[in-house]
Formats: sequence, C-alpha cells, structure tokens
Amino acid sequence: MKISDLTWDEFIYPRGAKSRQTITAYAEALEIGAQFPPIKIQRVFNYPVADGSKTTRATIILDGNHRCEAFREKGIEEIPAVEWKEPPLDYEKNRIPLLLESAQSNILHGDRLTANDKKQVARDIAATDPECTYTEDALAQKLGVTRQTINTWISDIRARQKTNRKSIIIRLSRLGWAQEKIAEITGMTQGRVAQIINKANICEINNLLKKGHNMDYIAAHYQMDLALTWALRLQGKTDQEKFKALGWGLRTWDQWNFNECDDRFGDAWPGRIPAQLIAHTLYYFTKPNDLVLDPMAGGGVVPDTCLLFERKCQAFDLATRDNRPEIEYHHWDPKRETWPVTRKPDLIFFDPPYYTKKKKEYEQKANTDTLSISSYSRKDYKQFFKEFFTLAHKNAKPATTLASLNADWRDFESTPAAKEKSDNAITLFDYHRLLSETGWKTTHRIECPLSSERLTGNQVQRMQNKRILGTIGRTLLIAKRVRETGVH
Ligand SMILES: C[S@@+](CC[C@H](N)C(=O)[O-])C[C@H]1O[C@@H](n2cnc3c(N)ncnc32)[C@H](O)[C@@H]1O
Repeated sequence: MKISDLTWDEFIYPRGAKSRQTITAYAEALEIGAQFPPIKIQRVFNYPVADGSKTTRATIILDGNHRCEAFREKGIEEIPAVEWKEPPLDYEKNRIPLLLESAQSNILHGDRLTANDKKQVARDIAATDPECTYTEDALAQKLGVTRQTINTWISDIRARQKTNRKSIIIRLSRLGWAQEKIAEITGMTQGRVAQIINKANICEINNLLKKGHNMDYIAAHYQMDLALTWALRLQGKTDQEKFKALGWGLRTWDQWNFNECDDRFGDAWPGRIPAQLIAHTLYYFTKPNDLVLDPMAGGGVVPDTCLLFERKCQAFDLATRDNRPEIEYHHWDPKRETWPVTRKPDLIFFDPPYYTKKKKEYEQKANTDTLSISSYSRKDYKQFFKEFFTLAHKNAKPATTLASLNADWRDFESTPAAKEKSDNAITLFDYHRLLSETGWKTTHRIECPLSSERLTGNQVQRMQNKRILGTIGRTLLIAKRVRETGVH
C-alpha cells in the first residue's frame, strides 16, 4: 500500500497525539531490518474532503499510524497492509464501527490507549448513537474496561438521549417559550402543555436525594436530561448558592480559567466552552429572568446554564438536532438583515468559530449546505462581524450587554514568532475595533485561557526548538451600546 494514499482520520484514530518516542523506536528497528505486522486499513466512500463541501473516496488507517510514520521517516514509500472489510464502506454510515474497530485494535498492542482516549471514544460513540445500539456491555468489552466505568463515562449523554417529551416541554417553558409555540412543536394541545408545566415537582427530587440517590439516577428515573434535573433541584436558590451546589468556585477577578468543561451541561461539540464561563457571565452581567440570546449555540451549553440560573434564553445555530429543540435553525447572514429573535435580549452571548479553527467539524455538523463563517475568507469573516455587531446594535435595548468570546488567530502553525505574517492574523484588537465602529463600547476584557495541556511534551518541544509562539489566550469582551450607529 502506498503510504501517500493513506488518510489519518482524527475521529477514527483515537489516540490524541502521535507518540514521538514510539515512532523513533520503530524507525530505529526498521534500520536494523525489523519486520512489522501489516497495518490495518479500510477503503471508504462518502468521505468529507477538507473544506467540507464535497465527499470523496479515501483509505483510512485503523491501526498502525506509528508504523506508517516510521516508514515515511525512513523514506519507505510502501507499507504492508490488510484491509478490514471488503468492499469499501460508506464512511458516513460506518463511523462508529470504524471507530470501535480502531479502538479495539489499538488496545491490543503497542502504545496502549490511555483511559482518557478510551473515555473519549466511548463518549463519541454514545453521542452519535441515540438509539443505544451499542450497549454499555458491548462498549466495555470492546474497550477493555468494566461496564461500571463505561457507565460513569457516558451516563450524562445517555440521560440526555432518553429525555422524554414532558421534560422537553418543561425545558422550553423555563427558557421562556410561549405555551402556544411549545404546543406547535410537540404536537400537543395547549391545555396539555399547561398541565405538564404546572406539575413539574421539585419535592420528588429532594425525596430521592434524601434516600441517597445521585443526580444521574434521578435524571434517568424521570427520563429528564441532567441539566433540567439540576435546574429543578436548584430552583429558587440564589446565584451564589447555585455556584456552591454545583461545586464551582466563584471567580472574583477578571481571569476566568477552568481546566475543563463540566460534562453535565452542554453536549460534546467542536469548540465547546465550559458552563462555568457562562455562569460567571450570567452572574456578573444579568439577573434572574433576563433574556439571553445565543446566536451560535453549538452544543447548547448556554441554554443549559440559563436553565440552571433561571434566565430565559433564545438560541440559534446552523446545526440543530432533535434532542435540543431550544436551538432553532438560523443562518446568520447579516446582509439579509434577518433578526429571528422575538424579544429584545438583555445579554447577547456570542461564541462564534474562531476564524478557520475547526472549520471541517462545523461543516460536518451543519444541517444544510449553508456555510459556517469558519469557511469565510479573512476579509469576509471580519466583514461578517462588522455586519453582525451592527445588526445586534439595531435590535438591542439601550441597556443590552454584548459578551463576545474570541481568540487571537495567528498564522503560527509552523512559523517562528519573528517570521509570522501579521497580515494573515485576526486578533482581539480587530474585534475591539469592530465593536467600537458599530456603536459598542468595550467595558471589560476578561481572560478565559484554554488549557495548554492539549499539546504533548513532544509537540511543545518542537515548538520551542523552532521558536514558535503558540496561543492559548481566549478573551471575553463585554460591550455596552453607546449610540445609534451610522453603519448600515
Ligand atoms: C464555537 S461554536 C459554538 C460552541 C458552543 N458555545 C458550545 O459550547 O457548544 C460556533 C457555532 O457557530 C455556528 N455557526 C457558524 N456560522 C454560522 C452562521 N452563519 N449562522 C449560524 N450559526 C453559525 C457553528 O455551527 C457552531 O456550532
């Protein structure tokens, strides 16, 4: 098999990063004539190409990525390979079997998968398998862990998938949806909807807690998603009491770093942000019952946090799905000047794609061929912000707060810091300028850095050797409306 014809698919090949140590060891072994077993590959069709616009055929590596790298480094162009299944598979329909086959091959030998890798595989599978075709037992067997471990890894995802119609109604009502609109999307009468809303009972949750059951159990018992179960449990408490009950320290200063996302809130999503970050924004810049607009809601962490903190929420995205009816389809194309929000929001929480980061992932998530702004050119991307901020200004109240999260995008991939082409960059200064040009005044700059632990020691070493300056900064700009804007 020609190595140049092979594709390393980051979803299918579960190891977070390649191990330099293993590649070097294999390369040295090749030098002294070692023989390696064949790698495992699969030919597929319906495979999305990098820009997400088309599909094509590909041959993906299921097992043996390190061997491939070692062969490539030694200048060997071909590698022995066996095919898992014949004929070629439809990639879109077989993502989970491919992921499982790859995970299983990888736990048998070589660099074993870490517990974190396995957890990610289990969560990826659970998230794309709402019918629960893969039982916890089946996943445990494939990944070589106990059923109990699988249960702790995926129970929040399963709880959300098993959520019943009643809990969807309660969720929508608490987020501020009119009963009429809820009746329309659930196909129930308005009277029945009203009945369900009035019967949501928190005493029962407290009784089950007193009996020693945990929140996962209670959510499953009522077939509710975990976020709603928590929201009902914390109903009526103050914001501060909620922070405490959720186990989140309340940050007093303008540096909000959180090691990871809290899996209880929001779905796994490319570019997902921690619920704690939103909770802090709600705490400092809104009050209960205020209306929050999330124009690009992705995995739904903003609506989940609004539920918890008793704020109303309207959420939109290009990508929508059945288990989250609160996220409505909307394609923001400011040129058309459509503003789908029915009431004027108190807070706009804007978490757009950070320029081209995760472009491919967003294209795959979209329900239609509509372009995510991550596919725009640099010029169009900046123009989009100018137009969106203008539109938001036009449709906001005088007291509306705009919270805009973004990161510097610099062309640093393989470029030493001193040689970066600044013309290619988009930085926080650009967003700041665009805000002020469109009638917004930035009042706070809150640093919410990403974790640097996503990079392996080897990657860091390579960057240091080449004097590449990475970026883990992410900044929440808080802005207030200052005047009528002249930009239309
Ligand atoms: C950074 S993600 C949001 C992540 C989300 N805050 C979370 O934590 O799960 C950005 C989202 O913007 C959406 N998006 C990009 N361009 C859009 C457009 N023009 N209209 C609507 N949604 C868009 C993408 O589908 C993606 O889900």
